[in-house]
Amino acid sequence: MTDRTAATSRRFPPFRTLFSGVDILRRSMELTRQLKDALGDEPPCLVQVVEGARPFGRLVQAGFPGQVLHDVRARSYEGTESTGEVTITPLGGFDLAEVAGRDVVLLEDIVDTGRTVDALRRRLDAHGARSVRVVTLLSKPARRVVDVAVDLVGFEIPDEFVIGFGMDLDQRYRELPDIVVYDPEVECAFASAEA
Ligand code: IMP
Repeated sequence: MTDRTAATSRRFPPFRTLFSGVDILRRSMELTRQLKDALGDEPPCLVQVVEGARPFGRLVQAGFPGQVLHDVRARSYEGTESTGEVTITPLGGFDLAEVAGRDVVLLEDIVDTGRTVDALRRRLDAHGARSVRVVTLLSKPARRVVDVAVDLVGFEIPDEFVIGFGMDLDQRYRELPDIVVYDPEVECAFASAEA
């Protein structure tokens, strides 16, 4: 294989890796153990914020055999900027009324400004959840606008836009197995080399 072939046969641009799939798996298992220790014997109501939290949600759900993982959609982003407005939509027949009296675990891919998790917390509280624990794989504390409580954090990261392991940029790069830093220059150079 020539150098050129080796460099361009990758499916994705060579973005800088922050966390490998193995790092993520290990940390998710630790978080799940901590979560189980914090919860009582009663099974929690697991809720994931789709699409981004799906891969993380699956890992945490594995620690709660037989537990349904509910989906909610929360829209607050266009491109790489938060719009500030959060629209919450339960999916797949999930009715928010089901959280009444339950210990809810809200699974998020990343807490950035905090607006999404704040809006979800308020909505779950309003529907009578007994408790709400927010568990996020990533957190960007430097970007926080809303001072929202986050109970468990996988990794704190600097103010960089990340993709992979469920996280996207306009629906692209979700399927990357690692968490990497999006860089338009790398993307552009890769596209030119592929052409
Ligand atoms: P927040 O409401 O600003 O905290 O944003 C939370 C949501 O924004 C997350 O669930 C992600 O969908 C999205 N988001 C924030 N930062 C990033 C990032 O670096 N990469 C991909 N999505 C992000």
